[in-house]
Amino acid sequence: MSPAFHDLATTRRSVRAYKAEPVPEALLQTVLEAGRLAPSACNKQPWRFIVVRNETTRRALGAAYAREWFWKAPVIIVVCVVPGEAWTRSYDGKNYALVDGALAMDHLMLAAAEAGLGTCWVGSFDPAAVRTTLGLPDGVEVVGMTPLGFPDVEPNPRPRSRRPLGETVMKERWG
Ligand SMILES: Cc1cc2nc3c(=O)[nH]c(=O)nc-3n(C[C@H](O)[C@H](O)[C@H](O)COP(=O)(O)O)c2cc1C
Repeated sequence: MSPAFHDLATTRRSVRAYKAEPVPEALLQTVLEAGRLAPSACNKQPWRFIVVRNETTRRALGAAYAREWFWKAPVIIVVCVVPGEAWTRSYDGKNYALVDGALAMDHLMLAAAEAGLGTCWVGSFDPAAVRTTLGLPDGVEVVGMTPLGFPDVEPNPRPRSRRPLGETVMKERWG
């Protein structure tokens, strides 16, 4: 691991407090571009990123996930996928749209951290409320949403706890 990547992976954390300061357009584009570059099964890229800056829409999304830190951030990125565009595994019909969308989300979250911006993957939202607010048609699924903005918290001095590698990696077989 390069020192730069190690640093990024260990210092990135979920940010749940944002400054009102707008996100410069160039930084937003850098973040979105990182999502665009993510790998996807069979390179299908079944994702779409909805960028919400408008306060009225952010407030409406706040009804789907009722946390002030979420909707008060200057930008919310909603990562959607179109499962009908995604690769499916022939053996069992497994659709990879959510996997692909998660990779795009992770790419853009890491790019944001590198740019000094905070993110927090929000998954526990009311999907029906998000669909209505954003006018999502049938066949489009929300993978996750994240606020994007400058963190209004000090960087955490210690990395988040993770299961040790010894409990994570198995040799040869499960267990
Ligand atoms: C799929 C997924 C869904 C998540 N949903 C939420 C959420 O709804 N609200 C929230 O505050 N954090 C959410 N998180 C953030 C996790 O709580 C966080 O990533 C985890 O605790 C590790 O902390 P770290 O991101 O600071 O390393 C979610 C993360 C993932 C990957």
